[in-house]
Amino acid sequence: MSEKIRFGMIGAGAISNAHLGALAARDDVEIVCIADKNLDRAKAQAEKYGIGRAVGEYEELVAMDDIQAVVVGIPTQFHPDASTKAMAKGKHVLCEKPMARTLRECDEMADAAETNGVVLAIGFVRRFDPDWGKVRELVQANKVGRPCMWRRIVAGAAPGPPNYGAWYSDSRFSNGPLDESGSHDFDFVRYTFGDAKAVTASTWKMGRAGDVLDTCTLIVDFKSGDQMLCLWSWGLPKGCRAPNLGPDVLGPDGVIHGPEKEEGENEFSYVVVGPEGAEERHPFTLVRTGKFWSQGQMDNFVESIRGNETPRATAEDGRKTQEIVLAAFEATKTGRRVEIGEFAGRA
Ligand SMILES: NC(=O)c1ccc[n+]([C@@H]2O[C@H](COP(=O)([O-])OP(=O)(O)OC[C@H]3O[C@@H](n4cnc5c(N)ncnc54)[C@H](O)[C@@H]3O)[C@@H](O)[C@H]2O)c1
Repeated sequence: MSEKIRFGMIGAGAISNAHLGALAARDDVEIVCIADKNLDRAKAQAEKYGIGRAVGEYEELVAMDDIQAVVVGIPTQFHPDASTKAMAKGKHVLCEKPMARTLRECDEMADAAETNGVVLAIGFVRRFDPDWGKVRELVQANKVGRPCMWRRIVAGAAPGPPNYGAWYSDSRFSNGPLDESGSHDFDFVRYTFGDAKAVTASTWKMGRAGDVLDTCTLIVDFKSGDQMLCLWSWGLPKGCRAPNLGPDVLGPDGVIHGPEKEEGENEFSYVVVGPEGAEERHPFTLVRTGKFWSQGQMDNFVESIRGNETPRATAEDGRKTQEIVLAAFEATKTGRRVEIGEFAGRA
């Protein structure tokens, strides 16, 4: 086997477990250092995953010459600075989603990858999810016809202590659910339908926590003619969740809905309902380990560094998702449908 790739982890919060676990499962990488402003947390993760060094500042980590790749998993506001500093030191970067809050920062990150000849992958982990992957497969196999509509409605309380930091609801660090949660959805639907064309949206504050716009409703029109209807709210009180809707897909030839549980621990089906209510079941195995989910994402990143694959979610994907998010804020501000191209090069 070729030499081990030496990794640094920036961030020791909730998401670090997904990345550190995925790295620990590979025998061709080594986790050398972890950095977190909260040094006790960095030390605790170092202890748990057998990492030799724990530091408080990511600048210290990126300055280490014996690290070739880093994962950036800290509040979104800091993604661009940590990623570009790491890339300037010649390190490959897997940066959590959302890539950055502004298009200018997305472009700076993409430029840094290009200039330094390193891999930059964005953590749109849903692209490795067998559940949503099945819906995508059925849409692309034209099971309900095109153009079609992808629906997704989710409402609960904002992520926060004790499981997550309070920054999610603080507008200094986060754009709220539209970006932090919705970006997964917008990226995945783009992955399925192709590029977005325009966004109609309403984004407002309903809940009592923090100062981000916590409730967003969007219609995203895609160049393909397909459409997405999405509601993401963090406006409910702590411990309260509304029933989710979707993802499901409505088309001229029927509906895709599910997943429904089948016999067997990890077995599920999506159901396609066609004319006269005729049903087809499309089974899949839902295991978010192995080559799926975070492990799939990390395997793809490592193999991209080794030159055997390319990142499934690129800097361009990160930017294009951010275009949808920013168009939604603009649509709210102006009260009109915003064409995606209007944002080229702005903000
Ligand atoms: N892909 C996914 O499904 C997924 C899930 C959760 C979070 N995320 C993303 O991962 C990132 C981190 O989220 P989280 O849930 O782990 O947050 P968290 O609040 O659990 O942890 C954040 C950590 O970052 C540290 N930190 C804050 N500012 C820092 C700085 N300037 N330098 C170093 N460390 C700093 C904090 O001390 C904390 O330990 C966010 O961008 C979030 O959107 C992605």
